[in-house]
Amino acid sequence: MLPPIANRWSDVMTSTLPPQESMLEAPHPKPDSVRDIFDHMSYGPAPETDAPVRAWLAERHSTFGHYIGGRWTPTSGAALLAVQNPATGAELARVAQGTAADIDVAVAAARAALPDWQKLGGHGRARWLYALARGLQKHARHFAVLESLDNGKPIRETRDIDIPLVARHFYHHAGWAQLLESEFAGHHAYGVVGQVIPWNFPLLMLAWKVAPALAAGNTVVLKPAEFTPLTALRFAELAHDIGLPPGVFNLVTGDGTAGAALVAHPDVDKIAFTGSTEVGRSIRVATAGTGKGLSLELGGKSPFLVFEDADLDSVVEGVVDAIWFNQGEVCCAGSRLLVQEGVADALLDKLRDRMERLRVGSPLDKSVDMGAIVAPVQVARIQALCDVGVQEGATCWQPSWAVPAQGSFFPPTIFTNVAPSSTIAQVEIFGPVLVSMTFRTPDEAVALANNTPFGLAASVWSENINLALDIAPKLKCGVVWINSTNLFDASAGFGGYRESGFGREGGREGMWEYLKPERAHGEAPSPVFVDPDATAPRSEAEPATPDVLPAIDRTPKLFIGGKQARPDSGYTRCITSPSGRRIGEVGEGNRKDVRNAVEAAHAGAGWSALTGHQRAQILYYLAENLSVRADEFARRLVQLTDCAAPAAHAEVHASISRLFTYAAWADKHDGAVHDVPMRGVALAMHEPIGVVGVLCPDPYPLLGLVSLVAPLLAAGNRVVAVPSERFPLLATDLYSVLETSDVPAGALNLITGPRDPLGKVLAEHDDVDAVWFVGSSHGAKAVEQASAANLKRTWTEWTGREWLDPRVGEGREFLRRSVQVKNIWIPYGA
Ligand code: NAI
Repeated sequence: MLPPIANRWSDVMTSTLPPQESMLEAPHPKPDSVRDIFDHMSYGPAPETDAPVRAWLAERHSTFGHYIGGRWTPTSGAALLAVQNPATGAELARVAQGTAADIDVAVAAARAALPDWQKLGGHGRARWLYALARGLQKHARHFAVLESLDNGKPIRETRDIDIPLVARHFYHHAGWAQLLESEFAGHHAYGVVGQVIPWNFPLLMLAWKVAPALAAGNTVVLKPAEFTPLTALRFAELAHDIGLPPGVFNLVTGDGTAGAALVAHPDVDKIAFTGSTEVGRSIRVATAGTGKGLSLELGGKSPFLVFEDADLDSVVEGVVDAIWFNQGEVCCAGSRLLVQEGVADALLDKLRDRMERLRVGSPLDKSVDMGAIVAPVQVARIQALCDVGVQEGATCWQPSWAVPAQGSFFPPTIFTNVAPSSTIAQVEIFGPVLVSMTFRTPDEAVALANNTPFGLAASVWSENINLALDIAPKLKCGVVWINSTNLFDASAGFGGYRESGFGREGGREGMWEYLKPERAHGEAPSPVFVDPDATAPRSEAEPATPDVLPAIDRTPKLFIGGKQARPDSGYTRCITSPSGRRIGEVGEGNRKDVRNAVEAAHAGAGWSALTGHQRAQILYYLAENLSVRADEFARRLVQLTDCAAPAAHAEVHASISRLFTYAAWADKHDGAVHDVPMRGVALAMHEPIGVVGVLCPDPYPLLGLVSLVAPLLAAGNRVVAVPSERFPLLATDLYSVLETSDVPAGALNLITGPRDPLGKVLAEHDDVDAVWFVGSSHGAKAVEQASAANLKRTWTEWTGREWLDPRVGEGREFLRRSVQVKNIWIPYGA
């Protein structure tokens, strides 16, 4: 008797499309003369055999357990999931439904394998990655056919795009493993990495995740998508065959519950996820406060901008690749066509003509353009969104021919008369559906392009390189393709801005996602969160310098938009030294003050537009003005924290030096030019993240603030900072330094008050793009949880850092977190 099957398909709605004849059955009239052939350019089916893959499945009784610790788990008695062929609906195989217990065993296997894997060193791991690359190449056709059967994508794409890119990723990352010790000095692997991947590029997503993780020295537990686990299982077999050490790569199949168990496992050090924004959000919440690393590659609604001087015939082919590649089941699909008004009609005519000639059919037919949609449930989702589009007043157009009636197919579809705020213009459809809108001016094009919460990719089409290169930096997304689309390579980072997630995959950028800085000499002895009762006066040996600071009754305000502003609450808080001496009062910032500061920071966008050289000059000037008042700030430190005068002077001088460091970096934290395999370049541009909230630690109240704010400012971000909760008067003294240093209004805003509540408010704010939090672990957890709403980037720390030590208190780690990388692909030549 067969084990029970949890069948995901049984409750699935059937397609709402009317039954249609397969276009493969009668693609075109049979040509009867050479002249006809030239007229029609007609061609017949070119089927690829699936016999070797079927034989492989049959040998395994089409039933698979998990691959854990170098062994296959038994399937007898296990709950199994049916895996179906999207093109026919027939069952291909059954795979085990992973449980929390399976995840437990897999994580333990990965943990056990870690020491030896790390001991191998970069060269040792490079050899294994190289062996995997070679194995993938040797079995390329097998993987390609299996992928097409499992996912429904055309063999032309799996053969020519997916599998070659998979091998390329392993080769490229064999290289990073080899270079690890020199190129990523001072960094080490996270440890055990949990990876959850989607169904749209099953093996490619595996490669994007597994190759960098292993290269960096992590071990892996991977959970593939329930619809498409077969190539991952075949990959596990390959890993086994080449003798990859047991436990280095573990595979647990199953649905989202297995993914959730992996995310929740306490012994996993980092989670890497690609999939829907909704699940990405839930993973952000689930990992909040755990200290796990996290990278998320989520959905998109990428614009495809066509300017009136574009070569429209090339544009048409570009659109085909943008939205009908992989049936539109592509996170970065160019699903919003934005066309300059003057050429819209001409382009749409050409496009409809081209759509009429697209071929949809068996994924194993080498002459089809589009294969099957992954599952009936996905067809139903696509249809439901198309129905909403029609209900909302848009015009739907589909070619005259029919898609195959059997299996999960959906025709290429285009919507016109689409309002920018309508559902189909905002929501990821994840199918072969294009929505089109028009614009008049380049500014309008940019506004429309940025008018969704996503920010994954964009294509810009224009024969005017000045225009294209002017538009690219204005688009809020992680990848821009100029006169091209859907180009990917292992050497160029891929990943999003805003709600498309964070982290990069590919290239040097991607390697950082699997590495952590060493802190051997940097762990601060004291906790970041200072317990007031535990802080003994540090200055008994050396009494505080006489107080020449303002009288107690002067209450500093907040600093918002370049001006001092009264706190909205009307409350102040009393600041005392650790020995209990009353030093002064500061305004108690609240939600309204945060709102005002964020607004001011957005209005201060001019700071981001300055050149690095200009920002450097202002940071140098700030350092200069602080140094003029160094003694005063040192006295304030002594007065506030009861520290010894030399310690206070050391902190002030370190703060001045730190401002110099980031002034120095402002025009030097360059991007890169990636060597992508085409005639062209991919420019990895470092762009500011936008408006960043910063919650500062109590130890080193001046240096902590400067260390966090200065790299962000150097990179062109605008900052809303909450200075040390216990010793905020250092920051309020800084207002006058800022005012005399030409720091533009809105670039740096300071709000005094309670760190944890203000951190949460900043993390909840939809117009804040990132939050850095250094404080208590519960404060960090609240920030990470609240950040899920708009998926802002967070950097939280509660373990302490020796801010005085420049090896850990400043440098590239801070700069890397201050920017997001945009890869701009620029093909050139013929
Ligand atoms: P999904 O996000 O639910 O699935 C992706 C992966 O996450 C799968 O391996 C799944 O088993 C796993 N998963 C599901 N729930 C989980 C949880 N709570 N914790 C951990 N792992 C979990 O995507 P789904 O349901 O397959 O597709 C739904 C929609 O998501 C699609 O219509 C499409 O719009 C979007 N999508 C976007 C992708 C992208 O790359 N941007 C990829 C796949 C889907």
